[in-house]
Amino acid sequence: MAEVVKALGIFGYPLAHSMSHLMYSTAIKHLGINFQFQPYEVKPEHLPAAVEGVRAMGIRGVCVTIPHKGAIIPLLDELTEDARLMRAVNVVCLEDGERLVGHNTDGIGFVTSMRKDVGQDPKGKRILLLGAGGAAKAIAVKLAVEGASHISILNRTPSKAEELAEHVKDQVPGSEVEGGALETEQVGRFAKEADIIINGTSVGMWKKGEPPDKSTLVPSEQIMPHHLVCDVVYNPLLTPLLCSAKRRKAKVLTGLGMIIYQGAEAFRRWTGCELPVQLVRRRLIRALSQAGS
Ligand code: ATR
Repeated sequence: MAEVVKALGIFGYPLAHSMSHLMYSTAIKHLGINFQFQPYEVKPEHLPAAVEGVRAMGIRGVCVTIPHKGAIIPLLDELTEDARLMRAVNVVCLEDGERLVGHNTDGIGFVTSMRKDVGQDPKGKRILLLGAGGAAKAIAVKLAVEGASHISILNRTPSKAEELAEHVKDQVPGSEVEGGALETEQVGRFAKEADIIINGTSVGMWKKGEPPDKSTLVPSEQIMPHHLVCDVVYNPLLTPLLCSAKRRKAKVLTGLGMIIYQGAEAFRRWTGCELPVQLVRRRLIRALSQAGS
């Protein structure tokens, strides 16, 4: 009998702009391993059945994306520390063919990208984080765990920033975190004191069929050469914020590294293999440039 192909997949709804399929299929083909990656559009009402299907069919692992990152938690057997702290799951692994373990690799993906792509460590750094959604939450928790000295979270809806700040302080004892309103004056005040500025909102992202979003949340004159400016948006790679940071001679980090390194963590857990990071990066950049042209 032929060897059974080991299945991997992604659960989301809708799945229109996920890069996962290209990322993992490129890696699987390059390494010549006996895995196959399949996107599954899973409606929210079908999530419990889909998760049981993972166990029943022995699917080795799945990525989890919007809108399932929180809803999947009660359906799993176990959570890792990061998933528990972030109260969100972006990766599921089937362990010993039985136990479904939920991980969150978004935060470690961001921090690994900081270390590998621009050689900076969050320890002891003052951070200005814009946004309080899913991506910002994973980043805020991980930066606190990794020893950032202070994190200011500003959000369009200030109550969400305050809530996130409280959540991080509760979960990571000793962390210094505050939340507030995303207003120009506040951005200026915190930017002045910050070592690292991170856009964790969707501002600057290109959406299909719409004119490019040229807005940025940080006025150019508030960016200084000592800043590291990061964006979670990866389409376009150089967002208006990163373009203006470059003009101001600041260091920049695009959102692509976070995507790749969170994927590399998942891939290692599912397959035991290292994701070929440079190859995957070239493929994703090519796909993004084709999509944008
Ligand atoms: P994700 O999971 O990608 O982080 P999300 O959870 O929907 O997505 O969060 C989107 C973030 O972008 C939120 O912080 C949102 O602010 P609100 O909480 O006020 O909605 C932020 N955001 C989206 N559009 C924005 C805009 N035009 N200006 C400022 N912030 C914006």
